[in-house]
Amino acid sequence: MTARIIDGNALSAKLRGELAAQAAELTVQGEQPCLAVILVGSDPASAVYVRNKVAGCEKAGIKSLKFEYGADAEPAEVLAKIAELNADAGVHGILVQLPLPKHFDEKAVLEAISVEKDVDGFHAENVGRLSQGQEAFVPCTPNGVMEMFKSEGISLRGAEAVVIGRSNIVGKPMAMLLTAAGATVTVCHSATRDLNFHTRRADILVAAIGKPKFVTGDMVKPGAVVIDVGINRLPDGKLCGDVDFESAKDVAGAITPVPGGVGPMTITMLLANTVESARRALRRKG
Ligand code: GUN
Repeated sequence: MTARIIDGNALSAKLRGELAAQAAELTVQGEQPCLAVILVGSDPASAVYVRNKVAGCEKAGIKSLKFEYGADAEPAEVLAKIAELNADAGVHGILVQLPLPKHFDEKAVLEAISVEKDVDGFHAENVGRLSQGQEAFVPCTPNGVMEMFKSEGISLRGAEAVVIGRSNIVGKPMAMLLTAAGATVTVCHSATRDLNFHTRRADILVAAIGKPKFVTGDMVKPGAVVIDVGINRLPDGKLCGDVDFESAKDVAGAITPVPGGVGPMTITMLLANTVESARRALRRKG
């Protein structure tokens, strides 16, 4: 059996077309969606992500503002910029690219962003709201995975879902969203004793570990849906995921590729959150 490939590029293109139409409509109504992106330091991967986010905005008719700081920037300087953007009615989303340099208190920076403009969904209040099923900005990568389930017609209610990874950005919110959708969720991590026991019984397997080709075909239940959140660069410069695609695709029922799977969905959901924030701002004025 060869798995069906879940095409994140195609789904992204469709959703971004819809978002561009919504952004144009908001612009006509005097509320052009606007995202402010803050990049601190010189991490090459972060620079690429930020470039892609800004380009994604431009293509969808969303205004973007980019603020760059050196690796030795004073945290107070960045916090002052966040305060300025919080107070700017023309800005609907504020994103601080992670990771931050070591001398920054990441939590304090994320908490400084206004809850209404936290389009990354990383503020503790948004995380709490999500956990209680209240309206919240949902972190972009797990939200993008949920959109993939929806468009593929994958039923989550009663499914055994296993998430490998417990990060605040992916693993934890992914587990919350799957639980809310009615799946029975197991979160595995570096201290999990028998990882294969868990992965082999997963109808839905989400890999968010950060280790290239970590999940191999023998760890996958036949027919399972395998979602690969990893983006790793191999020594030859090629990108690969956390799943060994070649062996897993012969066992899984459906699988996301890398590149062209979850990656483009992350930015699409960021654009969606920014458009939604502008819509809420317009409603508040109304
Ligand atoms: N670093 C890795 N992923 C993300 C993300 O989704 N948002 C931000 N702000 N930083 C990240």
